[in-house]
Amino acid sequence: MRTRVAIIGAGPAGLLLAHLLDAAGIDSVLIERQNAEHVAARIRAGILEAGSVDLLRRAGLGERLAREGMEHRGIHLQWPNERHHLDFVDLIGRSVWVYGQTEVTKDLLAARERAGQAAFYAASEVTAHEIDGERPYVAFVDAAGRPRRVDAEIVVGCDGYHGPSKQAIPDALRHTWERNYPFAWLGVLADVEPSTDELIYAWHPDGFALHSMRSRTVSRFYLQVTPDENIGDWSDDRIWDNLATRFALDGWTLKTGAITEKSVLPMRSFVTTPLRHGRLFLAGDAGHIVPPTGAKGLNLAIADVALLSRALIAWLRDGDTAPAATYSDTALERVWRCTHFSWWMTTMLHRHGDDFDARLQLSQLRRVVGSRSAATELAENYAGLPMPGLD
Ligand code: APR
Ligand code: PHB
Repeated sequence: MRTRVAIIGAGPAGLLLAHLLDAAGIDSVLIERQNAEHVAARIRAGILEAGSVDLLRRAGLGERLAREGMEHRGIHLQWPNERHHLDFVDLIGRSVWVYGQTEVTKDLLAARERAGQAAFYAASEVTAHEIDGERPYVAFVDAAGRPRRVDAEIVVGCDGYHGPSKQAIPDALRHTWERNYPFAWLGVLADVEPSTDELIYAWHPDGFALHSMRSRTVSRFYLQVTPDENIGDWSDDRIWDNLATRFALDGWTLKTGAITEKSVLPMRSFVTTPLRHGRLFLAGDAGHIVPPTGAKGLNLAIADVALLSRALIAWLRDGDTAPAATYSDTALERVWRCTHFSWWMTTMLHRHGDDFDARLQLSQLRRVVGSRSAATELAENYAGLPMPGLD
């Protein structure tokens, strides 16, 4: 089989890239390890930056987002006995949107189906070949167990942190940076109306907690736990008790409901460079992972794809290879900015170290809510910096 762009991985990065290429009249084939139902059901992040929303709208994917997404002016920051609202719209004139990655993925899968372009789900043994030459290809075994080969002009690895495509870049050229944080998140989805208008990020002596949401009837919560936490030790009652303690505030109560999902998420920073070698490009989690505290993972994947789609359209439609030549360096500028912001939010909000660290964290939190310039710095990063290389 022949196509112009072979895309490994059908997460938000791969699906959005396929959609933007299709809109420019460029064929692609998606090769995904999981089946389509699994891809559509995964529960992940929930916050879209203003720039991500703009991009999805311009790509014709904004209709359900406008109807079901919830626009938030900012976030609440909390520590014992105090809760403060940071108003991004007031600070920098930009808002964020609550719209689950699961919903973005469903919209993208529907668009892919409408476009009628090829996709192989439940593929195994996926490998990229000949990326140094003019005729790269992807080999895999399809859902029926048949060996397959997709020949392309470009191969893009959108296969997440565990995917194989980055390994096709020679070891001698690859550099990676990694930090594993000494804590994890216990994520909980519950059938209960949110107890807050906007997200609450809470510092607490027992550990960080986050109150997020998916809709007017579904809430999303996270609790700081240890990386080796046994989920079986967390009964629903224990979860609600911990959430009530960490979010406690006079005159405020946490509404409770049926817990429908719980899982433990590791917290890690990871960057691999370069994001391009020959005719292989990396985008999204395949190239970088951030801890979720700054809500950057999905937005960073969208920013990579915005940049990469332009570079590939310039190359494949107009024969201009200049944007492709700068893709890795340009994308990495934003990646490192978001890596720093995510590390900073994580370090400020999670219990670690000793009481000295706790005093520093509380001082930093007070500074953020007490100084317009400190609040603006958080707001600009959280609501999303301009996309380098784009308008
Ligand atoms: N072959 C084919 N596909 C693979 C392989 C493989 N060997 N390994 C992984 N994949 C697929 C995964 O099943 C998944 O569907 O690649 C896709 C990667 O998707 P994501 O992990 O969602 O990564 P990305 O599309 O870059 O989106 C980034 O997802 O993990 C969150 O926080 C992250 O929100 C961010 C977003
Ligand atoms: C979520 O809703 O899943 C969510 C929101 C904000 C974060 C992380 C996750 O920082």
